[in-house]
Amino acid sequence: VTTLNIPRTIEWIGQLDGCVRLIDQTLLPTEFKFLDCTDLETLREAIVSLRVRGAPAIGVAGAMGLVLGIRTASDSDPAEFNKQLHAAADRLASSRPTAVNLFWALDRMKSCAESNAAQPIPDIKEALLREAMAIRDEDARTCRAIGENGHDLIPEGGGVLTHCNAGSLATAEYGTALALMYSAREHGRRFEVFADETRPLLQGSRLTAWELGKAGIQTTVLCDNMAAQLMKEGRIQIVITGADRIAANGDVANKIGTYGLAVLARAHAIPFYVAAPRSTFDLTLENGDQIPIETRSSAEIREGFGRITAPASANFYSPAFDVTPAGYLSAIVTEQGVIWSPCSQKIREFFSA
Ligand code: MRU
Repeated sequence: VTTLNIPRTIEWIGQLDGCVRLIDQTLLPTEFKFLDCTDLETLREAIVSLRVRGAPAIGVAGAMGLVLGIRTASDSDPAEFNKQLHAAADRLASSRPTAVNLFWALDRMKSCAESNAAQPIPDIKEALLREAMAIRDEDARTCRAIGENGHDLIPEGGGVLTHCNAGSLATAEYGTALALMYSAREHGRRFEVFADETRPLLQGSRLTAWELGKAGIQTTVLCDNMAAQLMKEGRIQIVITGADRIAANGDVANKIGTYGLAVLARAHAIPFYVAAPRSTFDLTLENGDQIPIETRSSAEIREGFGRITAPASANFYSPAFDVTPAGYLSAIVTEQGVIWSPCSQKIREFFSA
């Protein structure tokens, strides 16, 4: 087993008076720079503009952002403290709508505050910092387990296609879809990775190819419209993506373009896997139609490459995510095992086990 060079996306530095340090992903792959956030608004802006992105990483950022938001709150007035806590959580919750991990992490932080409500406020603040750090550390362990549970799905010598970035950068560490690849490589398996460029913001070419390259895994980048041809040429044996939210019936919201890939995979009889932690499931939603889909600024399409690429007179539509119906999935790989042919019943059984 070899150990790969995998970056830490987000960390809390120091004590309660410290800061949140994150890799500014908008600068990659040309610049590797950390951004230190010392206040909630800076952290929230980092989520909104995708300096930190990817469902589990947004969850960790939300939890740590809440600590930034309450650490200067009143130490003597519980009502005032609670007011600030909820205002901070609401403010962070309004940053991005699709990845459920953000809301999951904020709920967990609020529960932590509630169960410590009898303590002096300074102790509640310390408990919240410990909880945010625990969310980060658990996510790192969860990602490792996802990799271990799924790496055998990658065939020796095969071609693996992925979309967007569901790697270390998108989580606390190690990733979800990419965790399978890291684990497979750590166990000595050889395979070729194909990364969709992932327009409009190029998470595939800028981030996935960058982090796999750092880990010594050679990556072939393709434009999003090339996948069908590669499949037809027999170069793709398996497709693996992450998820931003999974409904109770197994429908999966993930980066725009994922649905198209799933349809293409089905047409070419190629297995299509989603790798995600339990915190990405939203069992309150019966199906994927209920998942809120973020639409982003038309500027991200119109000026996608730092120059004008369409006339201002054109209209734009920019959904950041799409929903793949559960029927297109071969399986969902989680930290607690693999859910084959996911559907409402299988997911219910998985969560009640
Ligand atoms: O808009 P982004 O970059 O936050 O979208 C990220 C994705 O769609 C990822 O595939 C998903 O969050 C899974 S990350 C392990």
